[in-house]
Amino acid sequence: MARTLITSALPYINGIKHLGNLVGSQLPADLYARYCRARGDEVLFLCATDEHGTPAEIAAQKAGKPVAEFCAQLHEAQAEIAKGFRLSFDHYGRSSSDQNRKLTQHFAKRLFDEGLVEEVSETQVYSETDGRFLPDRYIEGTCPNCGYDSARGDQCDNCTKQLDPTDLINPHSTISGATDLEERETKHLYLRQSKMRDALNNWIDEKKDWPILTTSIAKKWLNDGDGLQDRGITRDLKWGVPVQKGDAPWEGMEGKVFYVWFDAPIEYIACANEWTEANGLTDADWERWWRTDKGADDVRYVQFMGKDNVPFHTLSFPVTMLGSNEPWKMVDYIKSFNYLNYDGGQFSTSRGRGVFMDQALSILPADYWRWWLLSHAPESSDSEFTWENFQQSVNKDLSDVLGNFVSRITKFCRSKFSESVPSGGTYGPVEEALIADLSDKLKAYETHMTNMDVRKSAMELRGIWVAGNEYLQTTAPWATFKTDPEQAAAQVRLGLNLIGLYARLSAPFIPDTAEKIQAALNMSNLDWPTDIAATLGEFKEGHAFTVPDNLFVKIDDDQRVEWQEKFAGKRED
Ligand code: MF3
Ligand code: ZN
Repeated sequence: MARTLITSALPYINGIKHLGNLVGSQLPADLYARYCRARGDEVLFLCATDEHGTPAEIAAQKAGKPVAEFCAQLHEAQAEIAKGFRLSFDHYGRSSSDQNRKLTQHFAKRLFDEGLVEEVSETQVYSETDGRFLPDRYIEGTCPNCGYDSARGDQCDNCTKQLDPTDLINPHSTISGATDLEERETKHLYLRQSKMRDALNNWIDEKKDWPILTTSIAKKWLNDGDGLQDRGITRDLKWGVPVQKGDAPWEGMEGKVFYVWFDAPIEYIACANEWTEANGLTDADWERWWRTDKGADDVRYVQFMGKDNVPFHTLSFPVTMLGSNEPWKMVDYIKSFNYLNYDGGQFSTSRGRGVFMDQALSILPADYWRWWLLSHAPESSDSEFTWENFQQSVNKDLSDVLGNFVSRITKFCRSKFSESVPSGGTYGPVEEALIADLSDKLKAYETHMTNMDVRKSAMELRGIWVAGNEYLQTTAPWATFKTDPEQAAAQVRLGLNLIGLYARLSAPFIPDTAEKIQAALNMSNLDWPTDIAATLGEFKEGHAFTVPDNLFVKIDDDQRVEWQEKFAGKRED
């Protein structure tokens, strides 16, 4: 049995994510996980909240909560919404877990022992009042360039000039407002990424099948020199993984934590560790996914992420993994995405522009969103959400093509025969042609799904729905019924079987709808079809069903206009 490990980029903890975030990693990862499971793979599908770093501290401060409490709350909220979207994670972990703390400290020690982590002394701004070193963005003052009075220590938001904290005029701490700031010597850890250039190049060269979007970004950073600069991997924050050398203290590093981008990807592994603990499993159970010396050599590992995450997953994280000189399972395939824009502009978390995951579910069921987002996934280029396009896609694809097909057949059967599969008649050349056509389409669909070509998969699936509609148009059982009820029975029988086929094939995209059909049609499972002819003979004469409730409700113009206005402006929290 094939074994597939799937991770989605870890959503940052500072708030509820928007639909652009969702379609850039979690949702396509879920599509693939569901498909692999349906094909009989053993799948481990992991995701977690990325909880450390300054933005978490700042968001907690804004919310007036201790950061640990804030993160716990936002983790629960994100986990709940993920369930609402039917994201089928085997575990939804937290980068602030004990498991991740231990593993992160372990990697730091390994990298130190391998000569890839070095201690560096530098000067940094210390606040006497706050009793701590201040990260650049915790220092504000007047911009020497434009005179803006709230420029941050790393950048002026007004004129965009990159700054050092020492450039600021009248600098103060944003924590306390204190002005008693001074420069002091302090030690930090640096990851010597450049030492791994050859190892990385070799590793990436092996990946002949990676999408261009992924390899071009990786190669660009790898070879332009800047990308593999040594990186500081420690920060002066309270919230994070404390800097330790494995179990032991790290002299001179007291009060410091690891940089969030150092510990976050390690959570991919730690999450599997959390998963075993949560389910009463043993260490061997996660190691067989992650350690090539413990059975993970036959695992295929696929990562999903937005393009901005690619450098971290093709360079920094592989440095951590390869540099440890331990047999960790490396990623086999990286599926990356462009951006989804919103109605003529960008989604904006800070300005609350666009539709956020919780809002989406408050107006329509998950499947409507899943279908639109996946069928418009920003793969070869950025794509754009517009309410017109969303309305059209829901009304045409879901309601007219799929929903209408299901309701016409089941209602016609109920009115002319009964709520069970009718007997009589035989399948002839028209039915055989349909079976041949669907067999080709199924192969194409499987190829696209296997290749993670999300849009092409959606279009192929839609084509499969359309083929059923065309069959109904050509054979017109309601007309046939008047002259040849036996033949009409055979057509209806095929139609009912098509509905069963659609439930199986559509489940990765629209799982709730598939389950509704499954229940209405009395199907014992939603297993993947191996042979179209066999699947279309599944419901035999006398098999009972019920007419399902309307599967999709159309979006009318008033709703569209209302939503467009509602989500254009400031999100109210
Ligand atoms: N939180 C990051 C983001 O939203 C992604 C982290 S992915 C991981 O861009 F690999 F670091 F976990
Ligand atoms: Zn400025």
